[in-house]
Amino acid sequence: TVQLVAISGSIRRASNCTAVLRSLQPLLPAGVILQILPLDDIPPYNADLDGDAPPEPVARLKNAIAAADGLVLCSPEYNYGMPGVLKNAIDWASRPGFASPLKGKPALIMTASPGTAGGVRAQAQIRDALAATLARPLVRQHVAIANVASRIQDGRLVDAPTLDFIRVALEELLDEIAMLAGAHRQRA
Ligand code: FNR
Repeated sequence: TVQLVAISGSIRRASNCTAVLRSLQPLLPAGVILQILPLDDIPPYNADLDGDAPPEPVARLKNAIAAADGLVLCSPEYNYGMPGVLKNAIDWASRPGFASPLKGKPALIMTASPGTAGGVRAQAQIRDALAATLARPLVRQHVAIANVASRIQDGRLVDAPTLDFIRVALEELLDEIAMLAGAHRQRA
């Protein structure tokens, strides 16, 4: 099986981004499991608390990322950038620097917004931050979901063209995971 960890940049109950993530499992082939990891209990980053035994919610986050074959992110844009909760989680997960659970991890980045730009500015920041951790943000067309509220019903993404677009992006993520697994085998 392939394990994907999904992270929403919004922790509010009625989050559009979390609704998008909740809609992905049916788009995935059999044998691929997507688990949503909420960020609401992650404390603000503090290097004094970091090290071998970080706060329990942080340890859970890092263990889940370490065990995952790939990441799927969906985030809103706050003031032209990524929300603090997401940056904070990336910062915790990024330690030890250049040797963290994020290193080498393929990641599909998606953003969503009730506006028309779909959160592309936040998306650029997320890509950059993940690159700094040596994760592998997927190189592909942006998944930037504009007018997101109009595409969601009862906490699920229901817009067929958007779902089709995301299905292809997920396939590309799975291809990347398979390619990396093959590359590792060849080097071993
Ligand atoms: C926003 N919003 C927003 N949207 C956007 O497209 N560009 C932006 O710069 C901002 N800035 C911004 C700042 C703050 C503090 C808030 C609270 C909101 C609107 C935002 O996209 C909207 O609230 C989304 O619905 C939030 O995502 P979730 O919670 O629905 O996933």
